[in-house]
Amino acid sequence: MKVTVYSAQPYDERFFEETRLEGLADVPFELIYQRVALSRQTTALAEGSDAVCVFVNDVLDESVLEALADMGVKAIVLRCAGFNNVDLAAAERLGFFVARVPAYSPEAVAEHALALALTLNRHTHRAFNRVREGNFALEGLLGMTMQGKTVGIIGTGRIGLATARIFRGLGCRVLGSDPFPAPAFKDIGEIVALETLLSQADIVSLHCPLLEATHHLIDEASLERMKPGAMLINTSRGALIDTRAVIEALKSRQLGALGIDVYEQESGLFFQDHSSEIIDDDIFMRLMTFPNVLVTGHQGFFTVEALREIAQVTFQNLLCLMRGEHCDNALIAREARALS
Ligand code: NAI
Repeated sequence: MKVTVYSAQPYDERFFEETRLEGLADVPFELIYQRVALSRQTTALAEGSDAVCVFVNDVLDESVLEALADMGVKAIVLRCAGFNNVDLAAAERLGFFVARVPAYSPEAVAEHALALALTLNRHTHRAFNRVREGNFALEGLLGMTMQGKTVGIIGTGRIGLATARIFRGLGCRVLGSDPFPAPAFKDIGEIVALETLLSQADIVSLHCPLLEATHHLIDEASLERMKPGAMLINTSRGALIDTRAVIEALKSRQLGALGIDVYEQESGLFFQDHSSEIIDDDIFMRLMTFPNVLVTGHQGFFTVEALREIAQVTFQNLLCLMRGEHCDNALIAREARALS
């Protein structure tokens, strides 16, 4: 089976090849690594492939899916949990098998949310630069003691739960908001209405998926409901936040700090080196001017353990497809049609 791997970085290739050597060597996958993302312009690279393997910023809208189907591609395997970039209705209509990696070290993302919050709170990103320049002044580095503070977790699934546990361990009071709260959350904190969470939390951390209902969940109105000076952390998906509204809230000091690992318009920016270019995105560049904003380039998942899990589960998904077996991770199943 021939698989075109889009948005393939050297680390993807390394962990896929290591996983192949660790026991799946005789599986006849031919993996063709492409650095570029999947889009209407790059579908032709999948010519002759049975499957495409994609990540968070590959575009799988109706026109891309139709082009792939016309070329004989039958399967889409996602190297991620979120699938907001795939038009599932179109994929189903076109008869694609679609599978994902539902969980790859939720703790990795939770720990990154904590890293953003702790860095912003104690200004270690600024202290790092100051000390290297021989500036040991403390003015501007004042933080708060985390113990006793209230942390609001929006989305209490795998990552939200792991984040809640970590903040509970710091001695924080933890509130959660979720239409389907995880039963285990009641041992860590209290489930409340979103309005209550926003009005009481010193730190709000987003862990719900990007859906129509959660698009711009954090907008002008919800920012106004937040405690003045509160911190907002987003390690989930960029479009959960209305970035323009967040910039206004930072300018008015209503929002005290922003830590994001994801950004609404990240697809043209993240995972690539743009350091020698002029970045045209004025909204992103405005964010960069705030001392109380910390942005990382979608690296929450980026641990050895998570990359191993992604490679192993992606291979298992491909094996299920090849053998025509039931696949637990399928979003759209095609058990009846084994590929070889
Ligand atoms: P999950 O499916 O285990 O949990 C999501 C939770 O959000 C569920 O409990 C669900 O009921 C809840 N939810 C749905 N709609 C909601 C709403 N309107 N308000 C509040 N809660 C709502 O997903 P998991 O594994 O915890 O991942 C969460 C998100 O994290 C993913 O959708 C993905 O976008 C993001 N992610 C980010 C990564 C990164 O590297 N930064 C890596 C992996 C995932």
